[in-house]
Amino acid sequence: MSNGPAQTPAASAHTAVIKPTDLRGILKYVPRFQGQIFVLALDGSIVADENLSNLLVDVAVLRSLGIKVILVHGIGRQLQELSEARNIPISNIDGSGVTDAATLDLALRASSRVSNVILEGLTQNALKCAITNAVRALPTGILKGVDQLHTGKVERIDKDFIGHLLEKDIIPIIQPIGYGIEGHSLRINSDLLAAEVAEALHASKIIYLTPHAGLEIDGQVRRDISGDHLRLVLRDHLDAIAEPGRSKAANAMRALEKGVPRVHIVDGRIFDGLINEIFSNEGVGTLIYGNDYQQIRQAAKRDVRMIYNLTRNAVKREELLYRTQQAIEKNIDQFYVFEIDENIVACVTLYFYPDRPDVAEIGSLYVMPYNQNRGIGKKMVQYACMKAKDRGAKTIVALSTQSYSFFISQLGFEESTVEILPEARLKSYQESGRNPKVMIKHA
Ligand SMILES: CC(C)(COP(=O)(O)OP(=O)(O)OC[C@H]1O[C@@H](n2cnc3c(N)ncnc32)[C@H](O)[C@@H]1OP(=O)(O)O)[C@@H](O)C(=O)NCCC(=O)NCCS
Repeated sequence: MSNGPAQTPAASAHTAVIKPTDLRGILKYVPRFQGQIFVLALDGSIVADENLSNLLVDVAVLRSLGIKVILVHGIGRQLQELSEARNIPISNIDGSGVTDAATLDLALRASSRVSNVILEGLTQNALKCAITNAVRALPTGILKGVDQLHTGKVERIDKDFIGHLLEKDIIPIIQPIGYGIEGHSLRINSDLLAAEVAEALHASKIIYLTPHAGLEIDGQVRRDISGDHLRLVLRDHLDAIAEPGRSKAANAMRALEKGVPRVHIVDGRIFDGLINEIFSNEGVGTLIYGNDYQQIRQAAKRDVRMIYNLTRNAVKREELLYRTQQAIEKNIDQFYVFEIDENIVACVTLYFYPDRPDVAEIGSLYVMPYNQNRGIGKKMVQYACMKAKDRGAKTIVALSTQSYSFFISQLGFEESTVEILPEARLKSYQESGRNPKVMIKHA
């Protein structure tokens, strides 16, 4: 890390706290993220926060690891301040309502100020950047009988232009302003803009940096939530989402539906928060995940034979417990399968103990040899853990005779003892005579 381009005082303070173990942790992700595009969407208040200089050092770290970064920024806080300082009322603060001429004028001033602060910070870190006119916009027009005046919607993102900059190692800075066909400016909501830019550039992540701990649902900050789950909350229980997160939740959903695999909502005021969110299994903000798990589905009766055949070899090697086809069929609801081109190549089970609804057990994990070492095993277990958590599990148990180190080294499980098993499960454990190791993880 110390060889990276960031050598400001803030950078050296930052690198000084990275331990070799952290570095190993980060390097693990490098091959996966190299060449990928991350859209970092900064709220105006994060640009005004004292942690901005650290965030921009983190941007330098991402760049040095081969990750292409696009910065999209908001201006809400600065617009509010300008409005108060000049005593000019604004018609809407976040670009989602009516923008009158006076508000547009202040928004343009706020925007150039914010872009300039970012430009200065990136310059300090020896990073090249460019403010662009890559967002082509159309007036939003009349909604429910009200003319939205200078508020715009994205007509087109000039992805060749942005792609060109990225190829040349230049960080594009995208303001929440779009340009109409005659060159006039239109105000655009920055959360929406980040989603549109990420979709157009096929980014692998959007990271919303906000002044909040993450996405709060029912009074609790979620660490992760599936797109399927969030879609239902947005549709049926919008009130459950704490207000500062609603726009981000809706735009995250929009991005997921357009193919952006992951959206993070992170507190941009926390030192090292961004780096921790990207380079740790646990993260610090909220991860909203989409089609990463698209190939995983719940098994159906028609899959019984395939699951039986799939696991037969592992049973012979005592890696898995023997189950008859009838036993698989009887418990088919417990199975999840991973499909490639309609072939099942991996399976896992998730089982809830009847007398302990807070504990779930993961079992029968198997990946076909040809497909091993492609991340499928990890994905299956992570998916099963998320499902377990969605259904209320607090503790996840895994039993394994030969792959316990996989669960421990790759998935953060810890070795435990048989005593933690509920009575009925302990009995079947002892009767099986296989003596697998018991591992647990908190959901
Ligand atoms: C164990 C198993 C599920 C792993 O699945 P996979 O899809 O190959 O694993 P992933 O691609 O997600 O992960 C690969 C990583 O796990 C490591 N790994 C694989 N098997 C491991 C094991 N038995 N112990 C420790 N680490 C293991 C790999 O070395 C690799 O590490 P790296 O990323 O640091 O290079 C798979 O090998 C398998 O089905 N094995 C036979 C059946 C079995 O033992 N099942 C477990 C019963 S509970």
